[in-house]
Amino acid sequence: MEKPIVRFIDSSAGARSGHAARRALVAALWLTTSALACAARPAEPAESPSSAPIEVPSLSAKYAPLFPIGAAVDSGSIHTLEALLVRHFNSITTENEMKFESLEPTEGVFDYSTADPMVALAKSHAMKVRGHTLVWHRQTPAWVFQDASGGKAPPELLLSRLRSHIQNVVSHFKGQVYAWDVVNEAILDDGRYRTAEEPEADQRSPWHGILGTSYIAEAFKAAHAADPDAKLFYNEYRNYIPAKRQAVYEMLKQLLADGVPVHGVGLQCHLNIEPSLDPNHHGFHQTVAELEQSIQLYSSLGLEVQVTELDLSVYSPGVKYTPEQFVTLETFSDEMQARQAARYAEFFALFRKHAKVISGVTFWGIADDNTWLSEFSSGRKDFPLLFDVKHEPKKAFYSVMDF
Ligand code: G3I
Repeated sequence: MEKPIVRFIDSSAGARSGHAARRALVAALWLTTSALACAARPAEPAESPSSAPIEVPSLSAKYAPLFPIGAAVDSGSIHTLEALLVRHFNSITTENEMKFESLEPTEGVFDYSTADPMVALAKSHAMKVRGHTLVWHRQTPAWVFQDASGGKAPPELLLSRLRSHIQNVVSHFKGQVYAWDVVNEAILDDGRYRTAEEPEADQRSPWHGILGTSYIAEAFKAAHAADPDAKLFYNEYRNYIPAKRQAVYEMLKQLLADGVPVHGVGLQCHLNIEPSLDPNHHGFHQTVAELEQSIQLYSSLGLEVQVTELDLSVYSPGVKYTPEQFVTLETFSDEMQARQAARYAEFFALFRKHAKVISGVTFWGIADDNTWLSEFSSGRKDFPLLFDVKHEPKKAFYSVMDF
């Protein structure tokens, strides 16, 4: 994962006018199609407090014949957004509460006090639970990679810690967590393995620095030993980039050839309202066609595919925004909402087309008042989900229901 970085305005007028033209075209197309679809769509409910019953059809019920619809929740939002969660979703992922630093902050001291009640709540509503995530370069305590004197842990020590963590955590949730993101984000956009020498500190992987690529297979083996019934996923972002897609494919192919128990690939799908127009920007590849190729390639290995962290930012990738250009509740216009809805619709059409291999679609949040995209970006608010800050369905909700 990379943080959404707030950048400052790019003065390229050509690029901006290209964007504007494309936006106008997309908006026009949306207005035409949405006008046609309007008759079949339920009326948008009048504004109501967040606790009021939501009188639109259930998202997860509509998708039940195809795949479960999940949401990432944290220990707060699972309560503040419970009404929406229970009505529209039938799967949860804990956003941070099952990460290494949350479950084993100190060596050998496991803390399930936050995650357990979340799993219990999901269970009480017959929801599935995805576990996120066992091995990642982020949100892992420093002690994991250190020896007793604070130096670099030797490989055998790190391996025994990896096994012990996974054994404890996966056994603890056995029978309750049906799928795990076992390894998260091991490959970079250019297709190289993430190493301990990446230029940006928060992009470095000490797992790789100490164990090389062997930590990946070891993690899957340990998870399978702890719960042979759990579905084990490799989870990655920007799989639509051709070089990255291919590298992930090669890695998975080799793992399978080596008999490593991998069952699926998670496509995070942190999307934007439009692809980048710059062929050198990673967002250029953020298209339905590129993502479709990834789904086809991974499933050709016999793997399940899940969309694991879906959201759709209202900002364009690679465009530099000044604080005055940040989208606010007031400037998140009907036109912008319509463009966001149209883009959601395109991707959901793709997911439905491949429902035979897609075994779940999970949003990274529920409503726009609780999204990591607003949390990280120096005051820049984002509005990436299907429900608004008042917990009302947005145009995007209706667009993914419209089939
Ligand atoms: O819990 C502490 C709190 O005690 C403290 O006061 C506060 C001050 O900053 O920080 C809180 O922790 C934050 C945590 O979220 C809970 O809100 C961390 O600083 C913050 O770094 C952390 O961010 C999470 C991020 O992963 C960390 O890398 C986001 O919530 C979470 O949505 C995000 O999720 C990742 C997936 O795991 C992997 N794929 C990308 C995705 C989005 O970045």
